[in-house]
Amino acid sequence: MTLNWTLDATDGTARAGTLRTAHGDVPTPVFMPVGTAGTVKAMTADAVRSTGARMVLGNTYHLMLRPGAERVARLGGLHRMMDWSGPILTDSGGFQVMSLSGLRKMDEQGVTFQSHIDGSKHRLTPEHSVEIQRLLDADVTMCLDECTPFPATEKQAAESMRLSMRWAARCREAFTPREGYGLFGIVQGGVYPDLRAESVDALTAIGFEGYAVGGLAVGEGQEMMFSVLDTTVPRLPTDKARYLMGVGTPSDLVGAVRRGIDMFDCVMPTRSGRTGRAYTRHGMLNMRNARHADDGGPIDPACTCPACARHSRAYMHHLFKAGEMLGPMLLTWHNIQYYQDLMAELGGAILAGRFEETAARIDAGWRNSEE
Ligand code: GUN
Ligand code: ZN
Repeated sequence: MTLNWTLDATDGTARAGTLRTAHGDVPTPVFMPVGTAGTVKAMTADAVRSTGARMVLGNTYHLMLRPGAERVARLGGLHRMMDWSGPILTDSGGFQVMSLSGLRKMDEQGVTFQSHIDGSKHRLTPEHSVEIQRLLDADVTMCLDECTPFPATEKQAAESMRLSMRWAARCREAFTPREGYGLFGIVQGGVYPDLRAESVDALTAIGFEGYAVGGLAVGEGQEMMFSVLDTTVPRLPTDKARYLMGVGTPSDLVGAVRRGIDMFDCVMPTRSGRTGRAYTRHGMLNMRNARHADDGGPIDPACTCPACARHSRAYMHHLFKAGEMLGPMLLTWHNIQYYQDLMAELGGAILAGRFEETAARIDAGWRNSEE
């Protein structure tokens, strides 16, 4: 029945587990590269897989507008269309409507918005979002929610969260259970501990296959984000996967895994890769910086990706200066490799009971990040 998550080991409050889906098993903690519009930008699916990535994220908002959910279904679903045979989680659209679309209007029933592509008018309700995600064939369907902006007053955050909870109940009703497929609820409530607690209680009363924490990394800063996790995560069921949406930097991931989060997605490695920024075990590098122009060494000697195994920093610098598309391709590959290696290291450390040592070593590498 549905998909499930099982605990393999704990180290403090950090957890290692296995997510079992219709399209395969995924060891957690896991980082899902973002494949917004049916592609992890600048990467073939084989290249994504070669980094060790086991699960990717897709977006309801983009795919409903182009090429359209029915068309994706006719093409055999999102896995087949993008040649990704592993599990896919799709975000529900609410967050992207707020961050990307033109004019938009929320009401109790749903959200009406203008496409960022051609200005055409569309409507998304909880039921419609679940139906689109079914057509896409998402292994994990996310509830339609409203990502409460930051800052928000307690009253605004409460009203927004309670709307998301009513929508979560409607998503649960609309979702047809299938073997290996599941629906995740999304905790909201801004930075207010009582609202976060109310949100967790509302979602657990409904019951989901996994629980996401939303409305974070929206400008509140790492310290406040961790403090929200400190009050929220311990209230979540221990036998279900926990997913921190849209997060984050390597240091965010280490801190969130420490607090019991199992799943992540973020555009940072892919987006940074396209603009010349490289994640390394010694912090961030900007390949456009002139100091790399004559450097014959690799981006990160400990990395096994093709950019590091076969090319120099000088070549990467040249590709970005010349505007060659191989630059973004190689650097995206490298950054995804970095994020996958980071998660594998954290998972391995939890299984070995060495989480804090490993976390301290990773954090130290980022302490004097220059660029
Ligand atoms: N991505 C990042 N934050 C959020 C959120 O709060 N809700 C949804 N649906 N997606 C997100
Ligand atoms: Zn590399």
